[in-house]
Amino acid sequence: MTMDATIMVLPGDGIGPEVTAEARRVLAVIGERFGHRFEFATGLVGGASIGACGVPLSAETLEACRRADAVLLGAVGGPRWDGAGVRPEQGLLALRRGLDVFANLRPIRVSDALVGCSTLKPDIVRGTDLLFVRELTGGLYFGPKARRRSPGGGEVAVELCRYSTSEIERVTRRAAALARSRRGKLTSVDKANVLETSRLWRETVSRVVRSEFPDLELEHVLVDACAMHLLRDPRRFDVILTENLFGDILTDEAAMLAGSIGVLPSASLGIPGGPGLFEPIHGSAPDLTGTGLANPYGAILSAAMLLRYGLGLVPEADAVEGAVEAAWNEGHLPVDLRSVERPGPEKGSGTKSIGTEIVRRVRSAARTREPIAS
Ligand code: NAD
Ligand code: IPM
Ligand code: MN
Repeated sequence: MTMDATIMVLPGDGIGPEVTAEARRVLAVIGERFGHRFEFATGLVGGASIGACGVPLSAETLEACRRADAVLLGAVGGPRWDGAGVRPEQGLLALRRGLDVFANLRPIRVSDALVGCSTLKPDIVRGTDLLFVRELTGGLYFGPKARRRSPGGGEVAVELCRYSTSEIERVTRRAAALARSRRGKLTSVDKANVLETSRLWRETVSRVVRSEFPDLELEHVLVDACAMHLLRDPRRFDVILTENLFGDILTDEAAMLAGSIGVLPSASLGIPGGPGLFEPIHGSAPDLTGTGLANPYGAILSAAMLLRYGLGLVPEADAVEGAVEAAWNEGHLPVDLRSVERPGPEKGSGTKSIGTEIVRRVRSAARTREPIAS
């Protein structure tokens, strides 16, 4: 079955445009080779949008994203906008909220080819395959904020963490369904020994899983202990469900299991039928911008998640992931995957040359219908 789809690309700031360019080339070749008509549209978000029209996400761009079949985003932000009244990151948050993509899937799969790239011992990270489901449209990120002068001098800043039963239920159902399709274990992470939002979180997760997913193994782990377990024994986890801020922090930590934050993709999903948002988990990497050395694998694997979860194109997603795995096996590693054991990169270290390598593999594998790694 061939498909017509509109893919909205929001390159954003810093290395965002560099890595999304490669992901877009990969999607275009998938379209060609599998006979789909992908139409690409481009929009501004973050600092790029502030520069052009004064706001980090315009109403027109949000509307265009809503009408698209899927949205691919690079990254937003950078030191240029620090201290400015309006921040690039507000555009990303408005987009997540505007698309109501409440479940952010962040898989951490440690490829055998990258085991030596982790800063952790190979025996600890080998075989790790876990999936974070991060609640994305609630919590501290979206509560009211305030700042005022304190009568005693200085200032006071406040932000409110808010979660409702229905917000917790819907993300729990998504995470539980994913756990059911994997190894059947769900770890819910909270801080219920201190926070009221976490106590509601824990009660709600327990009730939904007990009544609707009784076949799953459910455990509750406090966030501080989870941060430790991730480094001590990452293979104990299957699906980790957590709230917005904890998920942000734990996934950057877990990135080091996989070797670098540069390889990690994500998919943000809402209600069926609405467009998903697909973006690498890294930021705009101001220190790398313009060097041509940014790792495009996170963006390319986000394109694979776009195919799989956004468009339902499973063999196409498999083709991209297979090409990436094969390229890793042959040592096409960017500088951030340099390690003591693999001092590379020997070849294909730049952003563009990695993109070219993946395009080449996807193109020839689809044409010959031979295993992609050949
Ligand atoms: P960052 O992820 O941009 O960079 C952290 C470190 O990881 C840097 O050393 C960087 O060089 C490296 N890194 C990140 N992505 C890489 C890649 N693809 N290839 C190789 N190395 C990579 O995080 P930061 O420095 O804390 O934040 C920079 C800006 O990005 C901030 O403005 C922040 O708000 C923003 N940010 C945006 C997103 C997003 O758009 N989704 C995510 C995180 C941070
Ligand atoms: C991420 C980023 C964002 C977040 C920022 C840029 C708003 O760190 O996608 O992980 O905190 O969600
Ligand atoms: Mn983050």
